[in-house]
Amino acid sequence: MKVDLTINGERKTVEVRENDDLATVLRWEGYTGVKCGCDGGTCGASKVLVDGETEMACGLAAEDADGFEIETIEGLGSQDDLHPIQQAFVDHFAVQCGFCIPGMVIEAKSLIAANPDPSEAEVREAIDNNICRCTGYQKPVEAILDAAGRMRGEQAAVTDGGARVDSCDRGDLNE
Ligand code: FES
Ligand code: FES
Repeated sequence: MKVDLTINGERKTVEVRENDDLATVLRWEGYTGVKCGCDGGTCGASKVLVDGETEMACGLAAEDADGFEIETIEGLGSQDDLHPIQQAFVDHFAVQCGFCIPGMVIEAKSLIAANPDPSEAEVREAIDNNICRCTGYQKPVEAILDAAGRMRGEQAAVTDGGARVDSCDRGDLNE
């Protein structure tokens, strides 16, 4: 069967099979920032926005998404032009392997859209179903709070992530 999806602003008609979940279909379509961690709706890795609401894409039948607007991590920013939430994660060193990060960033976007000035407790509650095996949660929480501030027009709390990443590119390290 065919379903009509608007993915990151682009309208697409996609062929899906019965029982295909949205996460699988999005990945087939090239949106590989949608991760499949548990396939059971519990780890948060497959989070996307569906008509602005956070959904675990692995738990949503693709046919039930017919006609909806989907936003994946690829719709937020690019390598050269990161979304403020993505930039805050970089600046706070809130990323290790990165597997959980698209889901966390999507959840953060949803939270900040609904609540531009969240408390630390509200951030922790928002991401309490985003499982990260690497970082613990302190740095992502700090990144989300800082991102919310940046999106309110405040100065970034931390901006040194880019500088430290640049230092990894020093040519003399390879000599
Ligand atoms: S893969 Fe969807 S919530 Fe874990
Ligand atoms: S950064 Fe590795 S799972 Fe979260």
